[in-house]
Amino acid sequence: MESVRGRRIVLGVSGGIAAYKSVEVCRRLVDAGAHVSTILTEDAHRFIGPVTLSALSSEPVHTSLWDDTSPIPHTRLGQNADLIVVAPATARVLAAYAMGLSHDLLIATLIATRAQVVVCPAMHTEMWEHPSVQDNVALLRSRGVIVVEPQSGRLAGGDVGTGRLADVDSILNAIDNALSGRTRDLEGLSVVVSAGGTREPIDAVRVLANRSSGKQGYAIAEQALARGAQVTLVTTVDRVTLPGITRVDVETAQQMFDAMTAQAEHADIVVMSAAVADFRPFVAAAGKIKKEGGVPEIVLEPTPDILAALGASKRKGQTLVGFAAETSNLVDNAKGKLARKNLDLIVANDVSAEGVGFSHDTNAVTILAADGSCRQVGLSSKHAIATEVLDSVVKVRSAP
Ligand code: C5P
Repeated sequence: MESVRGRRIVLGVSGGIAAYKSVEVCRRLVDAGAHVSTILTEDAHRFIGPVTLSALSSEPVHTSLWDDTSPIPHTRLGQNADLIVVAPATARVLAAYAMGLSHDLLIATLIATRAQVVVCPAMHTEMWEHPSVQDNVALLRSRGVIVVEPQSGRLAGGDVGTGRLADVDSILNAIDNALSGRTRDLEGLSVVVSAGGTREPIDAVRVLANRSSGKQGYAIAEQALARGAQVTLVTTVDRVTLPGITRVDVETAQQMFDAMTAQAEHADIVVMSAAVADFRPFVAAAGKIKKEGGVPEIVLEPTPDILAALGASKRKGQTLVGFAAETSNLVDNAKGKLARKNLDLIVANDVSAEGVGFSHDTNAVTILAADGSCRQVGLSSKHAIATEVLDSVVKVRSAP
C-alpha cells in the first residue's frame, strides 16, 4: 500500500447495511498514510454515525452541499482528490452518478473530479442483477470507473446471494492498483491459477491432506481479475469466488494435473500456488477401512509433478510461476526448483516463520526470477503479496 502514502482520498459512503465496513476501509487507508476525507450521504446516517468516521478520517466528515465550512465543498473535495472510492455504492448512487444527477454532496463531488474513481456496489441480489443497475455499472465502467464487483455470501436479512460488498482487502487492492497506475496491465491475457491443498484418498472416507487454505491462490486470481485478465482458478477449496473468475473444482493431484495441463494450453500466465501432495496411497480402499482389521499399512507412491510437466511443455511467450514452501535454505532450494522445473519465477516462503504461509492471512516471500534477480517482500497481506507476484510477472514479460 505504498502507493497510498501522502495521497488525498475521498471516501464516499452511501446508505446500505455494508456502510459499517467503510470504517475499516477508512482506518486502513489512514494507517497506510493517506489523507482521507469522508462524505456520508443522508441515508448513510441511518447506518453509521458521522462521529465514528470523523474520529477516524483525516478531517471531519462532510455530509451536505450547504452546511460545510467551505461554500463549495464538492469542487474542493473533487479537485483535490487523487482518488475517490465509494464503498458501499447503492443502486441509487450508481444511477445518480451514471446520469450526472448532482443533487447531493457525494454525486456533486464525483462529477467535480478528474481523479480516478472506484465504486464498490453492495445491494440485494435482485437489485444487483436488475438491468437498470447492470446498465449503469456498464456505463460507468465504459467511462473508466473501476468497479469492485460485489461478492456472494450472506446479505442483510439472512438472504444469501451476490451483492455483498467486496471484502476490505479487495477494495484496498483496487485502490492500490489505481494509484500505482497498474490498473489494467493484464488486459487481454489469460491467467490460470491453482489454489489449495490436494486431498488423496486412503479409503472411501479418509484422505491424506495438508493445511493449505487456498487464500494466496485466491488472492492472486482476484488480483489478476482486477488487472483485466481472463482468470481460471483450479482449486481444491470452496471459498467465495468473485464473479468473473472461472472456477474448476478438483480434489486430487491427478485431477489438478489434468485440469492444469488442459488450461495451460491456452494460458499466457500460469501460477501454481497450490500445495500439491507429493505422495498418495498406492491403492485407495473401495470402502471404509475397518479398525477391527488392525492398523493398516498404507503404501505411498509419488504423485505427478504438475509444475515440472507445465515447465516441460511451456510455450514461447508463456510465463510460469511456481511456489516453494521451505523450512530451511530458502533461496538455494527455491533456485534449484526454478531451474529444474523450467520456471520464469518462483515465490519462496519460509513456512516455519511467524505469520507466514499456510492458513494465515499474511505471508512473507522472496520472489526469484530466472534472470537471477531477487525481490524480498516482508510480512504483508496475501493480497499485497499477490500484487507483488503479478508485478514481477509483468516485469518478466516486458523484459526484452
Ligand atoms: O518441489 P516442490 O514440491 O517443493 O515444488 C513446489 C511447487 O511445485 C509448487 O508450485 C507446487 O504447486 C508445485 N508442485 C506440483 N506438483 C507436485 C508437487 C508440487 O505442481 N506434485
